[in-house]
Amino acid sequence: MARSTFLFAAFALSKLATAIPFNTFDGEGFPACHNVSRVYDPTSVDEMVSIVRSAANSGTPVRASGKGHMWYDTMCSDDPATVIIRTENVNGISNFSLSEGASDGSVMIDAGVTFLQLAEYLHERNASVGYTLVNWNITLAGSIAMGAHRSSLKEDSMVAAGALEIHIIDGSGNLRIIKRDENSDEWLAASTSLGLLGVIARIKFKVYPDFKVYAKQDTLSEDDVLNGDIYSLISPYATANFWWWPYMRKFHHRYYDPVPANISDQEGFQSTFSVTKAEADIALGLLNSGKYLPTSNMAAETLFFALWSAPNFREKKTDAAILSWPVYGWNYDVLIGGLYPGYGTEWDFGLRGYTLELAFPVTQANAVLKRVRKAFDDELKKGIVMTSTYRSGINIKFGKAYFDLLGQVTTGTADGEDWSKGAIMFDFPSFRPTVGDHLRFNEPFYHNLATALIDEFPCRPHWTKNTREVFEQAKKHIDSAHLARFKAVREKFDSKGIFKSVIGEILGVV
Ligand SMILES: Cc1cc2nc3c(=O)[nH]c(=O)nc-3n(C[C@H](O)[C@H](O)[C@H](O)COP(=O)(O)OP(=O)(O)OC[C@H]3O[C@@H](n4cnc5c(N)ncnc54)[C@H](O)[C@@H]3O)c2cc1C
Ligand SMILES: *[C@@H]1O[C@H](CO)[C@@H](O)[C@H](O)[C@H]1NC(C)=O
Ligand SMILES: *[C@@H]1O[C@H](CO)[C@@H](O)[C@H](O)[C@H]1NC(C)=O
Ligand SMILES: *[C@@H]1O[C@H](CO)[C@@H](O)[C@H](O)[C@H]1NC(C)=O
Ligand SMILES: *[C@@H]1O[C@H](CO)[C@@H](O)[C@H](O)[C@H]1NC(C)=O
Ligand SMILES: *[C@@H]1O[C@H](CO)[C@@H](O)[C@H](O)[C@H]1NC(C)=O
Repeated sequence: MARSTFLFAAFALSKLATAIPFNTFDGEGFPACHNVSRVYDPTSVDEMVSIVRSAANSGTPVRASGKGHMWYDTMCSDDPATVIIRTENVNGISNFSLSEGASDGSVMIDAGVTFLQLAEYLHERNASVGYTLVNWNITLAGSIAMGAHRSSLKEDSMVAAGALEIHIIDGSGNLRIIKRDENSDEWLAASTSLGLLGVIARIKFKVYPDFKVYAKQDTLSEDDVLNGDIYSLISPYATANFWWWPYMRKFHHRYYDPVPANISDQEGFQSTFSVTKAEADIALGLLNSGKYLPTSNMAAETLFFALWSAPNFREKKTDAAILSWPVYGWNYDVLIGGLYPGYGTEWDFGLRGYTLELAFPVTQANAVLKRVRKAFDDELKKGIVMTSTYRSGINIKFGKAYFDLLGQVTTGTADGEDWSKGAIMFDFPSFRPTVGDHLRFNEPFYHNLATALIDEFPCRPHWTKNTREVFEQAKKHIDSAHLARFKAVREKFDSKGIFKSVIGEILGVV
């Protein structure tokens, strides 16, 4: 007994001494977890099971991680004994089935499978995941865990909406299969689990025949949107969103719909993040100077707006720029795409951002956007010009209602608000200066705006795009009956709470 206590203490000490940060996609200086004791890179589901079993035996906290495509230090709890299971190398795809003439089928994917990888696999087999996709180098498991979504009021676009079964390694190291069943609290908790039920090991995912879509974009005046029928601008399309340019007082309105495959030979390929080093350096210079000089931010927004007005698409077969709307191509290439050959991402070249994302009932879309406009105008009255400091403006997305316990677009909640028509998401990325104290120009503005929106409107935070401060403030809007039902399922899956996270702690479900 004494000996094992001693060994345990020594082990614990060595762990503390070697505690290392586990970073997000932004790399060093951007911890997803401040202190972890070890990062495992298993290569099979069985290996993940044995890691969880041994962690369960020693009461060691565990978190799974896909590609680290999240912001802020909210992945783990602050317990430095935490171990990470990186799922990257557990990325098998199997049991694809889509019969000739069938309207849908399914495929089994392992935890580490990314959208990019699955899209390529499916395209080769004339299949796709429809609209239940988000950006590229991100795992489906990580997306489902955190309730990620595309932008649509018409089609299901929560990634979880495509899941038919979620296989979770629970807190005892048992692999549980949870099948889609809206009458089961296990399913409704697993659908947006925040990683608190265990490691998502596999997902049986719904697939559809591949199809072509068009993408088109219009420029609207701010008045057209703020005083317009926002629902009617978004809901007719399979997927649609706005990008807001508050200094220009304009919106880009982007929309996509399916088209017959023979409509065009064009194979458009979208890229949201591709930049050259030279472009990144210009942006970095301008935006860093905007930490001190609003005129630089004004110049940056004007430049970004002009660049973003042209299609951010190339022809896949030739890599030639596509210069006019509409753009045609295959589902995934047009809806998401990836990186142009020879280009890097913004963050590869040191352009990093902060963000904030809150969802509101779409019935209050005009009021929310007008409230944000008022916040910009209030600064203007003080002589302070606020702008968007992000390459594609402020991202305004939408989500069709989808019922589960902790999803951003769930319905029928105790707040009595009408979420049934869907949600509008205000996703406000902003440049993080690489100079000085890294605070943004007029830093308090961002915090005050978040607080105002949270206090004045029913809203729900995106689970990977907000600070601890925002979660603390926003938790009052999360239905307490949903939290209680979620907690009850969590206790069944993980009685010792080894999968805890700061989000779980803030919500009071761990
Ligand atoms: C460039 C970029 C674009 C994005 N676009 C969108 C978008 O269009 N829409 C949207 O909604 N979101 C978007 N996101 C957010 C992104 O979808 C989520 O942050 C997602 O959770 C990241 O998945 P990941 O595989 O990188 O997981 P990580 O970042 O590694 O993990 C995220 C969280 O999920 C947990 N987790 C990961 N894998 C598992 C698993 N197998 N089992 C249990 N828990 C797990 C982790 O513990 C952590 O808490 C974007 C992010 C980036 C960086
Ligand atoms: C991380 O762990 C080290 C050593 O255990 C400790 O000194 C430090 O305060 C911890 N940092 C955070 C942010 O928790
Ligand atoms: C694939 O299907 C077969 C037959 O139904 C089944 O035995 C196998 O377990 C499945 N594979 C996975 C990874 O689920
Ligand atoms: C995909 O569809 C095309 C055109 O319909 C067809 O020629 C091809 O054989 C199909 N490929 C597969 C793998 O089914
Ligand atoms: C995806 O992420 C991996 C690392 O996790 C990286 O090696 C790869 O280059 C990335 N792909 C793209 C297209 O960014
Ligand atoms: C595309 O195919 C459909 C039938 O599949 C046909 O009716 C239509 O004329 C074709 N359109 C073009 C532009 O070839």
